[in-house]
Amino acid sequence: MEKIKKQIRKAVFPVAGLGTRFLPATKASPKEMLPIVDKPLIQYAAEEAVAAGIEQLIFVTSSSKRAIEDHFDKNQELEDELARRGKYDLLALTKHIVPEGVSCIYIRQPEALGLGHAVLCAKPVVGEEPFAVILADDLIDGQELSCLAQMVKIHKKQQCSVVAVEEVERSETGNYGIVEPQPLYEGVSKIGSIIEKPAPDKAPSTLAVVGRYLLSPKIFKHLEKVERGAGGEIQLTDAIASLLLEEQVLAYQFKGKRYDCGSKLGYLMATVDYALQHPNLRESFKEHLTKIYNSHYS
Ligand code: UTP
Repeated sequence: MEKIKKQIRKAVFPVAGLGTRFLPATKASPKEMLPIVDKPLIQYAAEEAVAAGIEQLIFVTSSSKRAIEDHFDKNQELEDELARRGKYDLLALTKHIVPEGVSCIYIRQPEALGLGHAVLCAKPVVGEEPFAVILADDLIDGQELSCLAQMVKIHKKQQCSVVAVEEVERSETGNYGIVEPQPLYEGVSKIGSIIEKPAPDKAPSTLAVVGRYLLSPKIFKHLEKVERGAGGEIQLTDAIASLLLEEQVLAYQFKGKRYDCGSKLGYLMATVDYALQHPNLRESFKEHLTKIYNSHYS
C-alpha cells in the first residue's frame, strides 16, 4: 500500500531564549523583535513559513516576549488612526502581518532549558505530524526560493526529516551542530552522525546545522529521553542524533545567504545588505557607504 504523503502545515518558532549576546537591548524586549531595516526578525521568519505553505505558527515564548504576541495581533487603535489620516499603505502593512487562513498559537517555556526543551514544549500542539522549526535569529535570504520552501520540496520527495546545513570555517565548529554527511545527490546528504558544538579537531566535517528543520514527530520521543548536553541545555542536536538510529535524516545545503542575527556582527551585515536591497533606501544608503569607505581608505 502506498504511504500517505504528509504535508508540513505547522511551524514552531522557539523564541524563549535569553538573547544574552544582545544585552542590554534584550533586557525587556525580545531579540526576535530586533528590526532588519523596518521589519522584525520574527516577521521575516513567519513570512518564510507562510510562503512555504505553513498554516499554523506556533511560538514558544517566555515572560519577556509579550511584544511578539502583540506584533502578530490586531491593533485596532493604530488601524483606526492610520485610516483617519488616510495612510492606507501603512494600514495595509499593519493589517496583513498574518495572512488569512494562518493562525498563531503561543506556548510558554517556563524556563530556558535549551532549544530541544523549547521544541518539546510544542508537542501538544504539533501532535503526530511532521513539522518545521525556524530560528528567527538565523535570517536566510533564499533569493529565488526561501530556504524553508526549498526544504519542503525535498521533504515532499523523501518524506523524512531534513535539516538545513552550510559550510563553516573549521575554527567555528564549536558554535554549531555538525553533521557527518553521506552524499546522496546535489546538495542533499544522508546524515551519518551529528554532534553538538565539537572542537575543530573532533568535528566530523565542516557542515553546520543552521536554524531551519523539518522534523518527524518521532523527535518528541527522543527529546523526552535526552539528558542535558552541551552548556547544560537540552539540545535538539542530541535528539536528532538519537532519531537517526531509528529513521533517516537528511542534511540539505540550501541555496541562499544566511545571517547569524543572534550575533552583533551578523545582525549588522544583514542590516547593511537588506538596506542595499530596499527600493527606497538603496541609492542614498549606497552613497553614504561610499563616503564612509572613501574617508577611511583613500
Ligand atoms: P540561542 O542560544 O541562539 O539563543 O538559541 P539565546 O539563548 O536566545 O541567545 P544568546 O546565546 O543568549 O545570545 C537558539 C534559538 O533557540 C531559542 C532562542 O530563542 C533562539 O531562537 N531558545 C533557546 C529557546 O526558545 N529556549 C531556550 O531555552 C533556548
